Amino acid sequence: MTPADLTKSLAEKIATVDHPREMVVDVMFAIQDYYGYLTDEGVEESAQLLGMSPLEVEQVATFYPFIYREPVGKYVIHVCDSVICWMDGYQSIKDYLCEKLGIQVGDTTPDGLFTLLPVCCIGYCDHSPAMLINRNAYGDLTAEKIDRILDKLRAEPQ
Ligand code: FES
Repeated sequence: MTPADLTKSLAEKIATVDHPREMVVDVMFAIQDYYGYLTDEGVEESAQLLGMSPLEVEQVATFYPFIYREPVGKYVIHVCDSVICWMDGYQSIKDYLCEKLGIQVGDTTPDGLFTLLPVCCIGYCDHSPAMLINRNAYGDLTAEKIDRILDKLRAEPQ
């Protein structure tokens, strides 16, 4: 798919709804999936397609934690820092992830494989402490379980 194909396909989808701006998240996701993150040009293009101002798109993009305004790793880990996970060991899980990956929250590993970010409750409290990796949920986290998950991802063809 070329950028022109992407624009055409998004324009066709937007044409099917009464209120184009209701598709702002879908459009941002599609552009992010294509480029790896929501580029400045992607904000401009989203705005044009949706009849919104770039500032309005930017406001949604920066509010929504799963839209990335700068390059991220192949695997984006969102570790939950909300109350139930806090009570169930968030701090040690977060520290372990930082130690294993050699980065701090907000950073990407030098090999471009992992980005570590915080996230509010992901609705997986009954399996806290929990995290998402590329929007897939992992719960009941322990150091051993994190080792297994990271090893499996590292072993996948890159
Ligand atoms: S508080 Fe972490 S999943 Fe709900």
